[in-house]
Amino acid sequence: MLPDRTTFPRDFTFGVATSAYQIEGSAHGGAGPSHWDTFAAIPGTIADGGNGSLACDHYHRWPEDLDLIREAGFQAYRFSTSWARVMPDGATVNAEGLDFYDRLVDGMHERGLAPHLTCHHWELPAALADLGGWRNRDIAGRFADYCAVIHRRLGDRLASTATLNEPWCIAWLSHFLGQHAPGLRDIRAAARAMHHVPLAHGAAMEALRAEGARNLGIVLNFETAQPADASPGAIRAAEVQDAIYNQWFIGALTGQGYPLAALEGLEPHLPRDWQADMADIARPLDWLGVNYYTRRLYASGAGPWPGGEAVDGPLPKTQMGWEIRPEGLTEFLTRLARDHVGDLPIVVTENGMAEAAGPDIAADPGRIAFVGDHLRAARAAMDQGVNLRGFFYWSLLDNFEWGWGYGPRFGLVHVDYETMARTPKASWHAFRAMLRG
Ligand code: NOJ
Repeated sequence: MLPDRTTFPRDFTFGVATSAYQIEGSAHGGAGPSHWDTFAAIPGTIADGGNGSLACDHYHRWPEDLDLIREAGFQAYRFSTSWARVMPDGATVNAEGLDFYDRLVDGMHERGLAPHLTCHHWELPAALADLGGWRNRDIAGRFADYCAVIHRRLGDRLASTATLNEPWCIAWLSHFLGQHAPGLRDIRAAARAMHHVPLAHGAAMEALRAEGARNLGIVLNFETAQPADASPGAIRAAEVQDAIYNQWFIGALTGQGYPLAALEGLEPHLPRDWQADMADIARPLDWLGVNYYTRRLYASGAGPWPGGEAVDGPLPKTQMGWEIRPEGLTEFLTRLARDHVGDLPIVVTENGMAEAAGPDIAADPGRIAFVGDHLRAARAAMDQGVNLRGFFYWSLLDNFEWGWGYGPRFGLVHVDYETMARTPKASWHAFRAMLRG
């Protein structure tokens, strides 16, 4: 069951989230190749061999998709612009791409939906990846330029702007764990990206403020890291993972610096004089976006730093194999307020679950239970004084789940990838009942 709307303040924002590469279809509208296209073309990188070239064909079907958001009673939509669509070669602006986002934002306003933009949700122009991507310090200035271009065209109609989505994924998952583009497993590359990603955020904040942009933030992901057993090795492994995942970025952004438990492994590989950048990274935020899905257990493991080994946990799992643990959301929200951001507005910018489609493609009882429990966990954090302002469900549509391909279904709305037909699931109707009363 979803909680009653009245258990949240009237001005609390309920929305849904998507991202460009996962739904638009990059084959249309003059988008350039991105490093996700390059990565997906390598056999074995994507579970089902898929890519984002057609995705949900949102590029053509966006009016219907915006209608679905409005009809469910949501008042806000978190979307992203594709860097590779806006700047196909990493530098020259594609007018057709900007026109598309212009129409999209107008379409939101026509439906009474507040546009919440994320400037970068992972599809880096391949031309910039060829220059070293996030390993190359120049990315910071290029990203700032791109954000300014977006702002000049859309900024007058945006409710909020986030620079980046999930720096941990852009840097660590992609350059150390090798699971996302560019698929590297290299501590030195990872350390560079771990620093250049926040640096790019800082440069973008400066550029956006100079353009007069308001309500600026960033979207970070948090995942509970716990020891799988009571051994010192497991406890240590969880501490190091917590530092890399849950402290590195928020520490830098809030001027508290990088955590020691992560620096001990990464510092030898950071760019020279990295300390001189920390003030540029820690620019004041107007709000913080929090993505939360799960926890992970760590056992002690052999091997070089950071050591440790993720192991299977005992809790019920989603289609992704991710443990369901709603109290982790309360824990992170209260921890972030207490340790890092105080009274700064926080928004849950993503929470949701993948649930496989059964014979009835619209039946998703697991998702309704998941969302209800996480909304109550968010409410519990508010009761403890957290300045939480909104909750965005991930995702509106079933879509391209990166390395997992099209298998996992996160949507409130089912997508038939043969016909592109959209079918609202029971969870969509549950939100509608909650939000429209
Ligand atoms: C995080 C990412 O922002 C989004 O792109 C992804 O699909 C969801 N979480 C689910 O894994």
